[in-house]
Parts: sequence; structure tokens; C-alpha cells
Amino acid sequence: MDAYMVFLFLLLTLFSQLGSSASYSTMSMGSSLSVENPADILISPNGMFSAGFFQVGENAYCFAIWFTEPSPTHNLTVVWTANRDEPVNGRSSKLTLQKNGNLILTDAGKSTIWSSNTVSASLARLRLNDTGNLVLLTVKGVALWESFASPTDTLLPHQPLTRNTKLLSSRSLTNYSSGFYSLFFDNDNTLRLLYDGPEVSSIYWPDPWLLSIQAGRSTYNNSRIAKFDNLGNFSASDDFTILSSDYGAKRQRIVKMDADGNVRMYSRKQPGDTWVVTWEAVLQPCKIHGICGANSWCNYVPSFGRKCSCVPGYVIRNKNDWIYGCQPEFNLSHNNSIAARDQFDFMFIPRVEIYGFDFGIFYNYTWEKCKNFCLDLGNCTGFHFKHDSGGGGFYNCFPKMQLRNGYRSPGFDGDLYVKLPKSILSSYNVTEAEESNSICSDKLTSQLDRTYEKSNTNQSVKFMLEFASGLGALEVVCVFLVWFFLTRRNGGDQVDSDDVVTQGYLHAATGFRRFSYSELKKATRGFKEEIGRGGGGIVYKGVLSDQRIVAIKQLNGANQGEAEFLAEVSLIGKLYHMNLIEMWGYCAEGKHRLLVYEYMEHGSLAEKLSSKVLDLKTKFEIAVGTAKGLAYLHEECLEWVLHCDVKPQNILLDSNYNPKVADFGLSKLLNRSEFSNSNFSRIRGTRGYMAPEWVHNMPITSKVDVYSYGIVVLEMLTGKSAMESVHGVEGGGDTQKRMLATWVREKMNGAFADAKSPIGAEYEKGELEILVKVALQCTEEDKDARPTMSEVVQMLLHHENNLL
Ligand SMILES: *[C@@H]1O[C@H](CO)[C@@H](O)[C@H](O)[C@H]1NC(C)=O
Ligand SMILES: *[C@@H]1O[C@H](CO)[C@@H](O)[C@H](O)[C@H]1NC(C)=O
Ligand SMILES: *[C@@H]1O[C@H](CO)[C@@H](O)[C@H](O)[C@H]1NC(C)=O
Ligand SMILES: *[C@@H]1O[C@H](CO)[C@@H](O)[C@H](O)[C@H]1NC(C)=O
Ligand SMILES: *[C@@H]1O[C@H](CO)[C@@H](O)[C@H](O)[C@H]1NC(C)=O
Ligand SMILES: *[C@@H]1O[C@H](CO)[C@@H](O)[C@H](O)[C@H]1NC(C)=O
Ligand SMILES: *[C@@H]1O[C@H](CO)[C@@H](O)[C@H](O)[C@H]1NC(C)=O
Ligand SMILES: *[C@@H]1O[C@H](CO)[C@@H](O)[C@H](O)[C@H]1NC(C)=O
Ligand SMILES: *[C@@H]1O[C@H](CO)[C@@H](O)[C@H](O)[C@H]1NC(C)=O
Ligand SMILES: *[C@@H]1O[C@H](CO)[C@@H](O)[C@H](O)[C@H]1NC(C)=O
Ligand SMILES: *[C@@H]1O[C@H](CO)[C@@H](O)[C@H](O)[C@H]1NC(C)=O
Ligand SMILES: *[C@@H]1O[C@H](CO)[C@@H](O)[C@H](O)[C@H]1NC(C)=O
Repeated sequence: MDAYMVFLFLLLTLFSQLGSSASYSTMSMGSSLSVENPADILISPNGMFSAGFFQVGENAYCFAIWFTEPSPTHNLTVVWTANRDEPVNGRSSKLTLQKNGNLILTDAGKSTIWSSNTVSASLARLRLNDTGNLVLLTVKGVALWESFASPTDTLLPHQPLTRNTKLLSSRSLTNYSSGFYSLFFDNDNTLRLLYDGPEVSSIYWPDPWLLSIQAGRSTYNNSRIAKFDNLGNFSASDDFTILSSDYGAKRQRIVKMDADGNVRMYSRKQPGDTWVVTWEAVLQPCKIHGICGANSWCNYVPSFGRKCSCVPGYVIRNKNDWIYGCQPEFNLSHNNSIAARDQFDFMFIPRVEIYGFDFGIFYNYTWEKCKNFCLDLGNCTGFHFKHDSGGGGFYNCFPKMQLRNGYRSPGFDGDLYVKLPKSILSSYNVTEAEESNSICSDKLTSQLDRTYEKSNTNQSVKFMLEFASGLGALEVVCVFLVWFFLTRRNGGDQVDSDDVVTQGYLHAATGFRRFSYSELKKATRGFKEEIGRGGGGIVYKGVLSDQRIVAIKQLNGANQGEAEFLAEVSLIGKLYHMNLIEMWGYCAEGKHRLLVYEYMEHGSLAEKLSSKVLDLKTKFEIAVGTAKGLAYLHEECLEWVLHCDVKPQNILLDSNYNPKVADFGLSKLLNRSEFSNSNFSRIRGTRGYMAPEWVHNMPITSKVDVYSYGIVVLEMLTGKSAMESVHGVEGGGDTQKRMLATWVREKMNGAFADAKSPIGAEYEKGELEILVKVALQCTEEDKDARPTMSEVVQMLLHHENNLL
């Protein structure tokens, strides 16, 4: 059997080469490609790209360029289409290079659907080159027209996005016509994402409430150009630069404006592999505007993806497409009479933020006043009532004209009140107290949704078979073999491709992978070099076979089942933020449970604090970065990743002293009963950093992390460790914490009055002040008086920009 297979294999290889050499990459004047002839395809000299008619619907075709080799999940990866909004008939439609040098696409006998609008007196030819660029060249090799200059929704390496072009998403995964989302250069030279829907349009990336400069963009460079390279470096003239998570590797790559409103970079190792997300612009998919339409909100569940829900009192408009949102089951009266006003009341909806469409912001309003304001305006649909984020200690009122861009965020501390007729309100069961408590111990029900690396042998066999299957003499054998392999493949890969589908647009799959125990043993040379302890295990330094330096944590309290461990680890592995330590992989073999992290050159903040090498500027940056990392954990990723153990030992510093939060989500991996020792009781966390809620048995929310963060900042500023002086103060770290906070409160006036302070400069004094202010707010006893982590980020950044 084996010898027989080898023989067939060789034959097929031979024939596949013959087959591919029959294709051509250029087309000359006067000739055309016909939709009816499947062989009318241009193939780039390297075989990577094909151009021809691509079926987009029943008897509907577009002239397109695609990667020759399909991916197992998305069949053909189309990178460009000529007529996305006007598909042509499956009979007698043609792409013709006319004698006058114009390239035209004609629909069945009918009109010209598309044309390159070129004229050339000399001989011209159309050529699909190795980069995927379809170029109309003159005899002298001058490009008259090229597909790179009019991208649709995809960029290829070195293809520029310019002031005259944009990436426009397709309508859906299966409908290739123009959608609503675009990536483009705005008038202020900034690269942005825009939702331009049927009723409204808005910018949603970078965060629309940030100035360009706050988002790290420059508005001065007018060249307006963005492109990326084969290594995965995407950079734009507004200073926006990202590296893909697999940066450096030579891979096939694309950047695509996806139909769900996110821009992603995808890569694949080999032709025929599945495309893997290696970067994406918007980390919280619910922040993409328009996705659930009007009068609805979006909820992101890590194991499921996005979910849209109508606001109570509203019903979905088009069951097949959430873009159209929900419509009211009642009439909002545009009538200000008392009688009309009295027909309405409000329903409380916790933790839902509605972005935009305010009548205005009304500072220092009472709830009553806000409510009456909305009742008085016939067309007010509801309002937000929110603690002042500047720390003013009062509430602000945001009455809404429309309920759009809603999303449920566990970290959002404002409340939404929706205006509804009393008749509808009474029919609802108002269960307002669905507060999110005991978050840290939430049961996580999730499935593993990551694609693991697979051996590609079968893939390549399939690849050759596909080439050969059209050939006469061997056809019968081939058909048999194709059938043989495909059925085997289908049997084996069914589950896998389902996974890929659910993964669809979930989080960026980074270079995350599974390691064998022996591999890690070898990497650490038998677990020799210990670099840290705590958080349920010992950390070793190691070097992987690809020379990457890693930190490997050996968990000693993790005795969950393998499946459960995998589910949780894969969720943690999907988190990607520059201020979170990145998990590169894990090992689960027998009793061994290990986690593989990126290695941080400068160790932990704790070490640096004790050696006193950090200046105030660096400390400030560390405070901002740490806050960003925690804000991401709290708000972007849902509650299951409350850190619950924020301390200097868990804040690591890279070679530029950028902080990265470590050990998040770890509590999920450890068996609590084993985990607890003298330092840990029922409660998790570390003495000195624990919020009063732990001690007083109160509900645990993300504010516990805010508290610990505040203590860390105080510790950075004062140099006094929250841990050190715990000795002797039996009865709890909370006494000590309070002491540190109180101590600072007392010292505060004195310190700032001290003109001899070596700091001197106004700038630094300002930094010091804002840090102390933020830290003291964070360490308030009352959790409701503490800001959220994203408010902390805003306060710190706001300050920074005022000084610039
Ligand atoms: C593409 O894939 C889908 C589902 O995987 C399948 O239904 C469809 O027939 C495929 N299309 C082509 C042209 O192979
Ligand atoms: C592909 O086309 C571009 C644009 O004309 C040209 O600069 C480049 O050299 C071409 N590449 C190849 C491999 O022909
Ligand atoms: C694709 O979307 C467009 C625009 O919404 C619509 O007109 C067209 O009918 C859709 N095509 C298919 C095949 O569903
Ligand atoms: C990425 O590309 C930009 C522009 O080409 C360049 O300035 C930058 O140094 C590159 N980054 C890396 C890490 O190569
Ligand atoms: C503007 O951006 C382009 C492309 O990134 C770069 O080549 C150029 O040097 C920049 N100009 C200035 C003045 O920074
Ligand atoms: C809303 O008003 C329109 C006319 O003003 C009326 O036809 C319709 O029945 C009303 N709908 C409800 C739910 O009251
Ligand atoms: C406003 O509504 C009240 C009660 O619904 C009605 O009596 C009155 O005629 C309405 N006024 C106008 C101007 O429509
Ligand atoms: C808010 O309003 C109340 C009552 O109008 C007033 O007493 C208080 O001073 C205001 N607070 C601020 C910070 O303006
Ligand atoms: C809402 O009503 C007010 C007054 O009744 C009017 O001034 C305003 O233009 C209306 N706004 C919208 C969006 O209809
Ligand atoms: C609330 O809903 C439950 C179950 O749907 C029902 O049994 C109960 O009677 C409802 N309560 C009210 C006040 O409508
Ligand atoms: C590849 O195919 C062989 C038999 O043809 C099968 O035993 C093997 O499991 C397949 N491997 C994968 C990864 O599908
Ligand atoms: C934790 O470990 C103990 C004994 O080691 C075991 O009985 C218990 O079921 C474990 N709990 C969990 C949640 O894994």
C-alpha cells in the first residue's frame, strides 16, 4: 500500500506541475477572460495569487484577485474585487483588454460594469505580479493602472493606504458588497475607523473622546500613508505603528477591514493554513459603533462573542441583521403637555453605557432634576446618571436623543434610565439588582476556541490533488483519492472547523501554543534558574528552541482537570494589551501545569523600588501603564479577570521600563483550598494591598483592584512598603494600609509646601500632586468613592496633556 501511495504521489506531483505551468500571468491587448471558462484565470508567476471570476451568489460573479491556495475555513481569500456592488451574470460576461488600452468588465451582453479608464496608444498588457498587484503595463513597463491603487477591504504587504484610498468592509462574511465600516485618513491626517451606517455615522477608533495626541497620534504629517511589511510591521504617517504578535516570521499576511467593524492583521505560515489573527485595532468588540443598531446594547462574552439585546420596550427590526437595531413598541410623544408627560416613567438598566447623542451634559444635577429634564423633552429617550469622573463628588446628567452604541460594561459605573410609557413598564418584571458580585469566584463556563498548530502533511497532499484532479488519464484514480482523503479529513476535522467558526472574530490569537514538559525542561535546563516565587508557583528563566527568552511558571496548586485548565488558560492567553504580560503558551501533561510568559528584563517593580533607581517621570509612566493594563482587564475583558492581587511584585518592567501587569486570572487556575496558606485565607490578595471589602465580607467588585493600585502608587511615591511594617501590627494588613494612606494624607501639605524639594520643576510637582490625589481617591474606604481604573487613566492623562 505504501509503495503504491508513493508512486501515485510522485505522479501527482509531476502532473500538478504540468497543470500549473499551463496557466499564465499576463494578458495581452485584444484578449479577454470569460466568466464561463473556469480556466480563464491569471496566476502570478510565483503561484501565490490568482485573478479571475469569483462566484459571489447564485449566477453572480465578481472579477477578483485571491490567494490561489484556499484556507480550510474561508475557502478562497479574496483580496480585491473590481465590481463588488455590481456582480455580473454567469453567462457571456467578460473582462477585456481593449485595443485602445482600456480594461473593461462587461455584463452579459449589457453595459460596461467597470473599467480602468486607461488609454494607451502603444501595446499594453495586464499582468498579475507576485505581490498580488494586478498591473496594466505599457511596453516600456510603465504602470497605467494597478489594483493596489484601489483597495477594497484588504491590504497586502507593501500596498499603501493613501489619502485617496480607504479600506471599506464587505457587508458580511458571505456578502462581498460594500459594507459600513472603513479605515481611512481623516482630514486631520489621523488614521481612523468610521461607521457610516444607513442612519448615522461616527468615528470609533481611536476612542472618539480622545484628542489625536492623547491617542498617541501625530496630526502634523500630511503625507497620509500607511502600509505594512512581510514581517508584520504596520506603520502610518500619523505615528501609529504596531507589530503583529508573530512579528519577524516570514509569513503570508493581510490587513483586512472586517465586516464586523474591526481591522485585523492575519497571517498564515503556509499556503493552505488557516488565517490567524495577529493584531486587531479594537480590543473590546462592543465598542465598535453601529454593530447592534439603535435602541440596543452589545454584550461581549469571551466564550461566545458579541451579543446584541434590545432595550426593554423595543423590538428587533430585522431579525437577520442587527445593523437595523430595534424599534419602539410605543410612541414617544413629541408633545410637551402635562398629560403626555405623565404617561412616562423610567426603567433602570445597570452597567449599560450609551455613547453619544446627548442633549448636553448637565453638571451637578440631582437624579430628580435629570429625570424631569428628560420627561419635559418629548423626544428624550432616556438618560445616563453618572458620578463626575473629575472627582467633583457630584453627579452629572446626560439626557439622550437616541439610544445608540450601547454596550454593557462591568466597569461602567453610570446608570442608564430608559424612558418608557407606564403601561409598558408595568408589564416588565424589574429585577434591577442584577449586580455583579463575587466576581472573582465566578464559575467560568467556556469552551476552548483556539486553533492549534496542525501538521500540514494532509494539506499538501490535498493541494496537489486539487491541481491534478482535472487531468484526464488519472481522473478516476484522483477522484477516488480525493474522495478518500476528503472523507477522512472531514471525519477528523469536523470539530476543528466548528471551533474555527466560533472563534470567527473572537480575540486575537497570538503566538500562543502548547508546550511539552520535556521541551520546557530543556528550555530551563532542568528548572535551574529561579527568578521569582509566589502567586501559586515558582518562576524560572528559560530559552525556547527559537531563542526567545521566557519566564516559565510552574503552578503547584493547580490540580484541575486538563480540559478545565485548558479552557481557562486559553482565555488568559487571548488577552492582549501592551501593559499586560503576554502568555505565550502552557503545558498540561499529567500532573504538570506550567505557563510560559514573555520574559521581562527589568524584573518587578518591587525590586526596582527597593533599589531606588526610578525617577518620578518613570514612576508616573509606570502608574499610567499599570492603570491602563488594569482598566483593560476590568472593562474590556469582562469581570472574570479581576486581578485581585495587585502589588509591586506583580508589576513587571520591560527593557524600556514599560510596566506590564502579571499573574492576572491566575486565581482561576489554582485550587483555592491548596492555595490558601498563612498569607491567604478565604480571601485572595496580599496583606497590605487588600481592600476593606475583603475584611468586612462585602461584595467584591473591580474596586478591590483600584484600592490595591492606590496602595502601590503610594508605595512608589513614599518609598514606604505596604508590606514591610506589617510586622507587629497583628490584626491585619488593613490597619497598615490605612496607616500608609493616612500618613500620606497628613504629610501631603507639608511635602508640597517644601520648596527645597529637589524636584523643583513645576512639571514634576504637578505629576506628584496628581499621583497623590489619584492614589488617595483609590484608597477610599468606601468603594463607591473610588474611581474606576479607566477614570484613573483619564485623570492621569488629562493632567499630562494639560502640562504639554
Ligand atoms: C465555501 O465554504 C462554505 C462553508 O464552508 C461552503 O458552504 C461553500 O460551498 C464554499 N464555497 C466554495 C466556492 O467552495
Ligand atoms: C509588481 O508591480 C509593482 C508596481 O508596478 C512593481 O513595482 C514591482 O516591481 C512588481 N513586482 C514584480 C515582482 O514584478
Ligand atoms: C448583499 O448586500 C447588499 C447590500 O445590503 C444587498 O443589496 C444584496 O442583496 C446582498 N447580496 C446577497 C447575495 O445577499
Ligand atoms: C516599522 O516600520 C516603520 C516605518 O517603515 C519604521 O520606522 C520602524 O522602525 C519599523 N519598526 C520596526 C520594529 O522595525
Ligand atoms: C511623514 O511620514 C512619512 C511616512 O511615514 C515619512 O516618510 C516622512 O518622513 C514623515 N515626515 C515628517 C516630516 O515626519
Ligand atoms: C403611534 O402613533 C401612530 C400614529 O401617530 C399610530 O398609528 C400607532 O398606532 C401608534 N402606536 C402605538 C404603539 O401606540
Ligand atoms: C398632546 O397630548 C395630549 C394628551 O395626549 C393631547 O390632549 C393634546 O391634544 C396633544 N397636543 C398636541 C399639540 O398634539
Ligand atoms: C452642586 O450643587 C449643590 C446644590 O445646588 C451645591 O450646593 C454644590 O456646591 C454644588 N457642587 C459643586 C461642586 O458645584
Ligand atoms: C427634541 O425636542 C426639542 C423641543 O421639543 C427640539 O428643540 C429638538 O430639536 C428635538 N430634537 C430632536 C433630535 O428631534
Ligand atoms: C416576574 O416574573 C416571574 C417569572 O417570569 C413571575 O412568576 C412573577 O409573577 C413576575 N412578577 C411580576 C411582579 O410580574
Ligand atoms: C493525515 O492523514 C493520515 C492518513 O492519510 C492520518 O492518519 C493522519 O491522522 C492525518 N493527519 C491529520 C493531522 O489530519
Ligand atoms: C481542590 O483539591 C482538593 C484536594 O486536593 C479536591 O478535593 C478538590 O475537589 C479540589 N477543588 C477543585 C475546585 O478543584
